[in-house]
Amino acid sequence: MIASPKRSRVLSGHRPTGPLHLGHLVGALENWVHLQDEHDCFFAICDWHALTSEYSRKSPLREWTEVVAAEWLAAGIDPERATLFVQSDVKEHAELHLLLSMLVPLPWLERVPTFKEQQQQLSDRDLNTYGFLGYPVLQSADILIYRAHLVPVGEDQVAHIEFTREVARRFNSLYGEVFPEPTARLTETARLPGTDGRKMSKSYGNSINLGDEPAKIREKIARMVTDPARVRRSDPGNPDVCPVFTIHQAFTGQKQRDEIDQGCRTAAIGCLDCKKILSDRVLERIAPLQARRAELVGDRKKLAGILAAGADRARQVAGETMKEVRERMLGRT
Ligand code: TRP
Ligand code: SF4
Repeated sequence: MIASPKRSRVLSGHRPTGPLHLGHLVGALENWVHLQDEHDCFFAICDWHALTSEYSRKSPLREWTEVVAAEWLAAGIDPERATLFVQSDVKEHAELHLLLSMLVPLPWLERVPTFKEQQQQLSDRDLNTYGFLGYPVLQSADILIYRAHLVPVGEDQVAHIEFTREVARRFNSLYGEVFPEPTARLTETARLPGTDGRKMSKSYGNSINLGDEPAKIREKIARMVTDPARVRRSDPGNPDVCPVFTIHQAFTGQKQRDEIDQGCRTAAIGCLDCKKILSDRVLERIAPLQARRAELVGDRKKLAGILAAGADRARQVAGETMKEVRERMLGRT
């Protein structure tokens, strides 16, 4: 297996807070699948991170963790080439989180923009906790423990990667060079809109999930908002302001997209035709994924085996880093 020291290391993670949707597929997963070719990749399902906001709600964390694992594998994460694991299987993350917390200044945490934003957005629960404040420290531990160079994430995570770099620098200046400073690798695809035109997100209830039945996907797309100025079939539309067209950009080839663009502007095609084409393209693209997903979700034994092997490999790398960290901080290994 893998582990050529010349290949640069990649780590990314995701909180298991529900099923994955098309935005995850084109925004992150497909990118991760490509990274596997040239990098030593670690992909973590961060159930401890999920707990920072779910601790009071009896969320089915384990079930979501398994679904995310099945969906990653179905999308093409290859456990022979990449290390797929569950964060809470590798206790070393918690140890590094604790040790880093000794040297992270409180003001660094208070000024991370997601801290106040999330507290305001998720106002239905108490996020004024020690664990939630420490969210970025745990994320730094996830990244630094593998001495990752690259962290493929969306725009919303850039502040956390910047934070991680500062933590690495502070550790290195106090205890000597242990951690490389990781770089965020932004996904190129524009953020996918959901059925209501806002960003696709589980919390908005506007997402098209990878596990939705094909008929359900057609129905969701058929009900999507379009260019609001296109009221009648005979009105010309503007694809530039239409969320349906934005999704076409991720799923439909250039030639057919140009035809739709033209057809929309001249009212030669109707929104229903346009949406039918989009449903066809989406379903075509995810059909193999859906088939593999169904297989994996039904084979918990196989999933458990893959996750156990991933955790073993992750633990091995994390353990080596921790030896060095303990040596430097505590004078023991
Ligand atoms: N905070 C990330 C998110 O909400 C998830 C995450 C946890 C992560 N640990 C990570 C992402 C390490 C990248 C690297 O999406
Ligand atoms: Fe949007 Fe397509 Fe309707 Fe044009 S034809 S407004 S791109 S749904």
